Amino acid sequence: MSQRVDLRFNDRPVRVPLGVTLFDAASWNGIAIDSTCGGHGTCKKCRIRFKSEPPAPTSLDLRAFTEQEIEDGWRLACRTPATVEADVEVPPLTTRPKAATVGVGRQVILRPAVRKRYLELTEPTLADQVTDLERILAELTDLSPRPDLAVLRSLGTTLRQADFKVTAVVADETLIAVEPGDTTGRAFGLAFDLGTTTVVATLLDLTTGTPVAVESMLNKQQPFGADVIARISATMLDPAARDKLQALAQETLAELSSAVCKAGDVLPEEVYEVALAGNATMVHLVLGIDAESLGVAPFIMSTRLLPEVRAVDLGVPAHPQARAVVFPAFGAYVGGDITAGLLASGMDRDSRIRLFIDIGTNCEIALGGREWLLATAAPAGPAFEGASIRCGMRAADGAIEAVAIAEDGDLKLTVIGDTEPGGLCGSGLVDAVAALAEAGIIDASGRFVPTEEVTGAPLADRLAMVGKERVFVLHWSADRDPAASIYLSQRDIRELQFAKAAIATGWRILLEEAGLTTDDVKQVLLAGSFGSYLSPKSAIRIGLVPDVGSRRIIAAGNVAGEGAKMVLLSIRDRAAALALLDEVKYVELSDRSNFNDRFLTQLGF
Ligand code: FES
Repeated sequence: MSQRVDLRFNDRPVRVPLGVTLFDAASWNGIAIDSTCGGHGTCKKCRIRFKSEPPAPTSLDLRAFTEQEIEDGWRLACRTPATVEADVEVPPLTTRPKAATVGVGRQVILRPAVRKRYLELTEPTLADQVTDLERILAELTDLSPRPDLAVLRSLGTTLRQADFKVTAVVADETLIAVEPGDTTGRAFGLAFDLGTTTVVATLLDLTTGTPVAVESMLNKQQPFGADVIARISATMLDPAARDKLQALAQETLAELSSAVCKAGDVLPEEVYEVALAGNATMVHLVLGIDAESLGVAPFIMSTRLLPEVRAVDLGVPAHPQARAVVFPAFGAYVGGDITAGLLASGMDRDSRIRLFIDIGTNCEIALGGREWLLATAAPAGPAFEGASIRCGMRAADGAIEAVAIAEDGDLKLTVIGDTEPGGLCGSGLVDAVAALAEAGIIDASGRFVPTEEVTGAPLADRLAMVGKERVFVLHWSADRDPAASIYLSQRDIRELQFAKAAIATGWRILLEEAGLTTDDVKQVLLAGSFGSYLSPKSAIRIGLVPDVGSRRIIAAGNVAGEGAKMVLLSIRDRAAALALLDEVKYVELSDRSNFNDRFLTQLGF
């Protein structure tokens, strides 16, 4: 893990990576410091006072403060690295920084990598032979960008056609464009959550931090299989499949980009940066990188960190020089979507021990707080997506999403879209099994209790046979034929048991690794859309999550997409996402000798 330093800002303790500036350290922890230059050392507004021993003043400090102020411990936060423990006073703001609420209630102070400056340049003369580029760079001393060759190609013409009144566009220290006139009010970014099933795009206004438009659609790779293993297998079986999968992922991103740009009335050329969070397989495939080694032991990625990627490499229509920030992955099965999720949920900044669970076919789990973080992946299988369940379906119109026992003892079903039920989705499945366990219709091992033991009991009349299998009818068909009704079979319950046991074994092993028990967990964050529908009470009842009390089980929403937005809005959060790679320890479950025994003990309710 990277080295950390303990600081106190206005008496609030925080722990930050060694060497970051106090300006960044405060911002990462949601403490705003005055600034108009964004931490570049030019505005002299980021005044802080050391209550503990101050560091030696820099030459800039000597220019910004009086001798007495230096003596009193005043320094510029953006010029002061965190090297030793310090106690610091941050004065109240005199200017209001632009900030946006992103992630799980996170305040992100706007400091996008994309910055625009309007310049009115003096025209060259025979006596003033400064080159076009130098003329621009001289005005951008605080940004000191390096030029992109593509900008140079049209620079001369652009400057002269615009009477030397232009806007310089800098992205992450590169001058990526020089535009005629003043375009400073228009700068956009695109944040993608590239899921195996669903892909979400958010168009962000980088000048205000507000989302302009959001669109989602199914990943066009679907015909190649529902999960990552099916898609990796496709590339093993057919050499042409890799190109096809890349093309389909890129088509999905391109279609979504066009849709959000149209909805937001934004031109693709006004999108200067793209961020993408996806699992390791999705990232490999969309970039056309061989994914075969992700599908077979020992499950090795081509790389955790990617070289520079541009929007064009993802097939995204945007400014021709737009860069893409692709989240790094921890491992083949704890991908960049989880890096983004941990960033958005602030797992690395909270003093409490929290558990982060992203439930899907592959379930990613992280445990820890600001001192340490552990992560692992558990193969949950498709039960939560309704795929291996007899009457299962995706969470779409007609899916039973919640099941409860009403006061009269009968079942109460909630159906998505308020229509006639057509099947059972993951959250309904968890509820149904929790309700049956509660009502004593299934025993602790998950087996339906013998009919004679429940005859006359509430709900017992819903037990029926479909072929040779015992089932529990959730919704009767008009003719009360069990086979035509929506039911839960013994095999369905087994499927759910396997899925929940895999997940529960995962977080229990992480707790053990950390030397903790469930009592130490202060909050459970359920990431992804499934987490939003899941009833905390039912999740606790079946043992899917530790019993921390339902109020401490929080639906965190689409944290991967939120993380993607954060790195577009703040270069500090971009650095924090990278730092997570060193801070999180990956725990492999499959090589644990006692994994199977642990798994078996987690099957019951
Ligand atoms: S933030 Fe402007 S000088 Fe420090």
